[in-house]
Amino acid sequence: MTATSVTSLTVNTRVYEGQKPGTSGLRKAVKVFQQEHYTENFVQATLHALGDQLTGCTLVVGGDGRFYVREAVTRIIRIAAANGVRKLIVGQNGILSTPAVSTIIRKYKTQGGIVLTASHNPGGPDADFGIKFNCDNGGPAPDNITNKIYEITKTLQSYKIIPDIGIDIDKVQSVSIEVDGKPFTVDIINSVKDYVELMKEIFDFASIKKLLQGSTDRPAFKVLINSMNGVTGPYVKQIFSNELGVDDTSLVNIKPLEDFGGLHPDPNLTYAKDLVNAIKEGPYDFGAAFDGDGDRNMILGKKAFFVTPSDSLAVLAANLKLIPYFQKTGVKGYARSMPTAAAIDRVAVKNNAKFFEVPTGWKYFGNLMDAGNLSLCGEESFGTGSDHIREKDGLWACLAWLNVIAGLGKSVENILLDHWKVYGRNFFTRYDYENCDSACADKMMLSIETLVEKPDFIGRKLQYEGKEYIVKQVDNYSYTDPIDGSKATKQGLRILFADGSRIVFRLSGTGSSGATIRMYIDSYENDPVTFEKDAQLILKPLINIALDLSELCQHTGRNAPTVIT
Ligand code: G6P
Ligand code: ZN
Repeated sequence: MTATSVTSLTVNTRVYEGQKPGTSGLRKAVKVFQQEHYTENFVQATLHALGDQLTGCTLVVGGDGRFYVREAVTRIIRIAAANGVRKLIVGQNGILSTPAVSTIIRKYKTQGGIVLTASHNPGGPDADFGIKFNCDNGGPAPDNITNKIYEITKTLQSYKIIPDIGIDIDKVQSVSIEVDGKPFTVDIINSVKDYVELMKEIFDFASIKKLLQGSTDRPAFKVLINSMNGVTGPYVKQIFSNELGVDDTSLVNIKPLEDFGGLHPDPNLTYAKDLVNAIKEGPYDFGAAFDGDGDRNMILGKKAFFVTPSDSLAVLAANLKLIPYFQKTGVKGYARSMPTAAAIDRVAVKNNAKFFEVPTGWKYFGNLMDAGNLSLCGEESFGTGSDHIREKDGLWACLAWLNVIAGLGKSVENILLDHWKVYGRNFFTRYDYENCDSACADKMMLSIETLVEKPDFIGRKLQYEGKEYIVKQVDNYSYTDPIDGSKATKQGLRILFADGSRIVFRLSGTGSSGATIRMYIDSYENDPVTFEKDAQLILKPLINIALDLSELCQHTGRNAPTVIT
């Protein structure tokens, strides 16, 4: 602990257009953040938006280890000090996974936190960066707060800073200085400790360990975990190697790198191909990968049997009672985002549990959890989580699966097959068209809306190669939060069919340039003959109907999606 006294400076700035946080914070190219005052402006606006809470508050700061995180942490320390923040809790080396930030905010009851990440977007000097504010419940700031931040950025004239504060963030330590006569403390903390402690309270580590180590009556269950050079590496090392005794050769890409080693750290079949191939060819029973900031997950079984995020959610929902945390808390309710396949809906009906559908974005689950209505939720975009924190949580999902596997004593594939036998199967796919021209994408959305709004569209029979779907309902999805009554409109065009199948079109809110069009297809089958079939095959008619009615290829000039999940 050192005690020096410093004074804050006010620096005149200029307004930067477009500092509007998207689905998950402000996300732009690193080069954009590197412009003079750009980062400072957004941080100042974020602090301003705290209003009365700012003076004397404690905030958590950390990021996914990508390029510019360290720089941003240094600036945040200097700006926070000048703005009357009482204390910052900062991850060592600037490292904190998104779920860890949420954990620490809740554990130490801070007024919020700043997460430095562009999630699954590539990193490095020529790639992306992001800044996201999380509130005192540990969750991403809701629309009313992000809108407030944006409004402030539009007129910001100056920011406050203490340019000469230099704190070594690589060392676990507590540093106190006196700023304008008041104490200001920076605690550099071990990045993994609090999070790992929480995981050990939630899951049955002893039975997971037994599963992974094997016993006289069961061979070791072999896992391959891939952190994609993102932030989860140190967490994976602590949990899988030190706690569960897994051999280091089964833990890959566990050193966080500023450019993720050139990987696109998004755990799906396209970007996590290495994992898929290794599992296809290797002796593994289970594989998992996580994104840059550790909130997303992908789960694979033997021979790379793929568990869709929507199925993953439904299977966990059906087996929550195997997890100690839910034995204690009970199951309060389930939720999914609107485009996510409706598999979990069926589990909710069978269990007579509360169920909610919300727009895309984890922030929409927060109020339901805070009100005690929601235990488990997820999104098709590889996000799964529970009310243990207010972010989705990649490692949590992986441990939840291992806890369930240990309890059921079955392979991943057999768990899915047995699940479908009970509930039927929701086949699901998402087609992404990344980096389209924004004007063309807007035009396409508008023309789909115009088409589906025609009064005679309802009841229309859409056909492809003999398969027919009858339109039952169409809308541009809107949501009213049942807890605070806030409304989110224009959240995606939905075409709902009589048999429960759905086509959804949305523009992504997380891209950093151009427009990403997402086309979601969800179709329910309860004939067991279909269960083991390929989703692309079963969904072919609906995919073609969707491409046809949207005229997507004509609008975008794209003949194929960038990514299929
Ligand atoms: C982030 C958010 C998720 C969201 C996903 C996709 O990961 O945390 O809640 O589902 O982005 O969002 P997008 O707007 O790109 O479809
Ligand atoms: Zn993420």
